[in-house]
Amino acid sequence: MSKKYTITTPIYYVNSVPHIGTALTTLAADVTARYQKMRGREVFFLTGTDENGLKVKEAAEKAGKDPMAFVDEISSKFKEIWPGMFIEFDDFIRTTEPRHRIAVQEFFRILQEKGHIYTGTYEGWYDVSSETFYKESDLVDGKSPDGNEVRWVKEDNYFFRMSSFAEPLMAHIDANPNFILPETRKNEVVSFIKQGLRDVCISRANPGWGIPVPGDDSQVVYVWFDALINYIAATGWPKPGWEDYWPAEVQWMGKDILTRFHATLWPAMLLGVGLPLPETLVGHAWLLMGGEKISKSKGNVVAPLELAAELSERSTCALDVAIDAVRFYMAATLPVDNDSVFTYEEFDRKYNTDLANDLGNALNRSLAMSHKFVGGSVPGGSVEEEAVQAIAKAKADFETAMVTFRIDHATDAAWSVVRFLNKYIDTRAPWALAKNNDPALPGVIRSMLLCLRTAEGLVRSIMPKTADAIAAQLGSSPLTDWSQIGTEGSLIEGTALSQPKPIFPRLELTKKEEPKKMEQPKPQPTATPIPAQKEEAVATEITIDDFAKVKLKVGRVLEAEPVEGSDKLMKLQVVIGEERRQIVAGIRKSYSAEDLISRQVIVCVNLKPAKLRGVESQGMLLAATDADGGAILLQPDKEAPEGTGVK
Ligand code: MSP
Repeated sequence: MSKKYTITTPIYYVNSVPHIGTALTTLAADVTARYQKMRGREVFFLTGTDENGLKVKEAAEKAGKDPMAFVDEISSKFKEIWPGMFIEFDDFIRTTEPRHRIAVQEFFRILQEKGHIYTGTYEGWYDVSSETFYKESDLVDGKSPDGNEVRWVKEDNYFFRMSSFAEPLMAHIDANPNFILPETRKNEVVSFIKQGLRDVCISRANPGWGIPVPGDDSQVVYVWFDALINYIAATGWPKPGWEDYWPAEVQWMGKDILTRFHATLWPAMLLGVGLPLPETLVGHAWLLMGGEKISKSKGNVVAPLELAAELSERSTCALDVAIDAVRFYMAATLPVDNDSVFTYEEFDRKYNTDLANDLGNALNRSLAMSHKFVGGSVPGGSVEEEAVQAIAKAKADFETAMVTFRIDHATDAAWSVVRFLNKYIDTRAPWALAKNNDPALPGVIRSMLLCLRTAEGLVRSIMPKTADAIAAQLGSSPLTDWSQIGTEGSLIEGTALSQPKPIFPRLELTKKEEPKKMEQPKPQPTATPIPAQKEEAVATEITIDDFAKVKLKVGRVLEAEPVEGSDKLMKLQVVIGEERRQIVAGIRKSYSAEDLISRQVIVCVNLKPAKLRGVESQGMLLAATDADGGAILLQPDKEAPEGTGVK
């Protein structure tokens, strides 16, 4: 069997259920796994739960439960939630399993045999919350550096000679520039090692919970020493065959558990036993809320699936899509060097701008125009050079980002082709080509569709269900082979396209929810809808100054969909120069969505916003009224750039 591409997450403490902080690490690992599978690697993706240790025992006691029953219950929540977020792990290890206990005891025994373990007395502080030993000089105002309570401990324990591994460890870090990522974290680790690595206490007095030290039931193995061994236990070690799974290509984790544990203790343990070191350790930064790390103890937990369910309810997008939107948010904002702050406002804003506006628009416009201008199937013709280049660059940038596990940059690379596509549509203006019977039209539409197909492939590891939905609308099978992404062969001429079905309905943000920092600031003026215009006799004369107060501009309809529960209203997304507006108009009886997409319209842009059937309208379309009361939309006599003023 060939060596698998092994990816691990930390194993999670079972004192708390999963939240978006812990989900972040697991999502990063899942994106890595999916990407490597698309590249043809056989992947072994490992996650699990950390169930020994005082922290868990005390949490069980607090809950009034037997520790085993308690860990069974919470571990199963982790095991269930990950597939709910479309996380495809291959193995889930629990440290209470026999395979883990056997590996830990064997590991301990080998280190003892090799002279790396000795007995002594530990006297110092212990932080149960992070299961960490601290010296007096480590404390800050009598607490751990993370602000946790500490207790004084004096015990006869076993020690691991970590100090003797400082040199080989530094040599390994120097020789392997990608061993610790990102660079900022590597520097932290190097300075930690340079301060001098201390021997580590690796056992605790047996509290009746944990893995007994081999040959000494009065002690249990220190929970971090035990937990780190999960990575090798899951490979089947010490039984033969583990070499197919180890060393890991990448071990993902948060920055808090990199320096002291994964980048020093863990490699030293491996060197001691004589096992190879993992290729890369990635320590991402934290997701904060209200200035603090998201964690159960801080009481600021956001559950990923609840976040998705709420989004689905508020936006009316499908639940699968909402789960993908949570995945997208995490991938796009994955904190690397610096912590990033989670806010519901930013989450909503990214949904509207990156998903509804960018990706949703690119999909809807491309499909609507393919139906309108080339009969609804993939045309032949050649893809235009600028599209070829944008596609190649997006794919290459994605690959480069993934070499150093910059999931945030990879996500941005995928979006670069989406942003290109929206601009390309605006500048190549297929509606104008169609009007002039320009022979470039099929090639332009093909270029648009190939950009979409590329986007489908590039977003797949981040948003698997959305990628499937895009493929379905393109009438194509899912693009899962990385080498095919961006190729002409991925888009077969003559394939029937489905009608556009909006995947990401826009979120209506109330004023309170309106984000403070908008990427594209929305203009103040908004307006009432256009319920079929009533004929009104011209009553009072107005002056030219009165008329000048009414601001009219040329716009173009990008998206159109009927307003649910109304047989008159149509919800439109209209581009007016640099800005986009949502306009609700009473034109459904006279126009279908397809009639409207890509049509130019005249918009009154300074009417006060109004809600129609609960949907905000930010402008009004000008229309005449026919004999039956139906709308006849006004449009410029010839194409005018969107945003042009009308007098
Ligand atoms: N059990 C140990 C890991 C042992 S691995 C051999 C542990 N568990 S944990 O549940 O507390 O945290 C697991 C991971 O979740 C860590 O990588 C941690 O950094 C990450 N996160 C927990 N909260 C987080 C945020 N708010 N933001 C980012 N990552 C967070 O440590």
